[in-house]
Amino acid sequence: MAVLADKCPEIKVTVVDINKEKIIAWNSEDLRKLPIFEPGLSLLIKRNRNKNLFFSRKINENIAEADIIFISVNTPTKKKGLGAGYASDLKWVESSARSVAKFAKGNTIIVEKSTVPVRTAELIKTILSGSKSNSNSEKKTFSVISSPEFLAEGTAIKDLENPDRVLIGGDDDKAIEKLSQIYQRWIPKSKIFITNVWSSELSKLTANAFLAQRISSINAISSLCERTGADIKEVANAIGADTRIGSKFLNAGPGFGGSCFQKDLLNIVYLCRYYGLEEAANYWEQVIFLNEWQKIRISNLIIDSFFGTVTDKKLVILGYSFKSNTNDIRESPAIRVAKDLLENGANLVIHDPKVSKFQISNSLGENNEKSNNCSEGKWTFAIDIYNACLEADAIIIMTEWAEYLNIDWGIICRSMRQPAWIFDTRGIVKEKSLKGAKLKFWQVGKGLITNNIK
Ligand code: UGA
Repeated sequence: MAVLADKCPEIKVTVVDINKEKIIAWNSEDLRKLPIFEPGLSLLIKRNRNKNLFFSRKINENIAEADIIFISVNTPTKKKGLGAGYASDLKWVESSARSVAKFAKGNTIIVEKSTVPVRTAELIKTILSGSKSNSNSEKKTFSVISSPEFLAEGTAIKDLENPDRVLIGGDDDKAIEKLSQIYQRWIPKSKIFITNVWSSELSKLTANAFLAQRISSINAISSLCERTGADIKEVANAIGADTRIGSKFLNAGPGFGGSCFQKDLLNIVYLCRYYGLEEAANYWEQVIFLNEWQKIRISNLIIDSFFGTVTDKKLVILGYSFKSNTNDIRESPAIRVAKDLLENGANLVIHDPKVSKFQISNSLGENNEKSNNCSEGKWTFAIDIYNACLEADAIIIMTEWAEYLNIDWGIICRSMRQPAWIFDTRGIVKEKSLKGAKLKFWQVGKGLITNNIK
């Protein structure tokens, strides 16, 4: 919405939320207090806030005023009830639709922006069709269209300013044209695809499933590289040069994280099973299994490197967000690896340039900083990388933050305990930067390469 406001100064954009703290934070004078860290976002907020971009808790009034409403609420995987563990929980979509049904006036276009299962637009339409007209007998009408979002965190502004494509799905030509006109202010018409509503909903899930599948594929091959002496980067480079395959999303790592890939895959698995397509469901489910395995495999090989015990070993985790340039830790592979190591009694030091101690504490549940139980490890939060690594037994790189690209490994290794280990799960450490350092070095898709460092 910040990008939309920036591109269309004559359109008034209001973001509403039931969460009071969030709205306060979005309105904060101090731009460091915005609820999320996203490169370039604070600049857009600064430029447009209180001009044509507003953040408000007045939900009902703003619904009544709106010509177009984007439903952009979260749709997490259901924890309970029918479809638990797989299906998306649509309760927020549903309650938003009910508020729209109640407070809207005149003709309102509803844009389904949240990632949703196929046929959710039908659900919204059903709720809206049950709404009563306003007392002044003015007729309420609604048009429901789907326009899923393809931005990725960390590059959101760039992705929105120059998207590969925009999808608009629906059968109401007038509503589609209205939304398309808005996008056309900065996106060429040739990049705006009009589809039926179900294709639009399913395309979003499928795009994420294909991207996730590429990561699981390259991670599966990374394990094979580690055994055979092949180098995953050379393999990725070689296959990526084939234009039919393409070079993007071929970075081996600790497994995909983030709020989308797993949720959307689970959703597809659920939909396939619902329609009796067991083989198709199993196929997509395997992408998730492989992702889990990659995380477990990494925890296990770290523990194995210490002959099966990391109890009281000082292990430094560099990076906790699910990828760089975001402070989002949802489904971050670092959580799983940290939990495994803590369960094995490790003494963890966790560093991340943007993730807070509070977020880490929440993600680790009962493994909080006060935990002194000897069957479990403990963890502390570090601000300075070099201090964090003093007397450490191992360093585990979990996120590819720019801060970790230019570390002076010579200084770090001299301050570590011997035998000192580096586990690079993102493949970002250059071997030549380790020259002369006394350590054992493991890299994803390459394996143990200590003996090659000269
Ligand atoms: C993903 C999609 O890329 C977006 O197009 C989509 O709009 C978004 O989900 C969504 O549905 O909202 P996002 O989750 O922000 O975006 O991040 P990605 O860049 O896709 O990365 C996801 C995970 O895959 C990260 O943990 C990342 O480290 C990992 N990854 C990515 C790899 O391990 N290797 C790669 O080559 C690429």
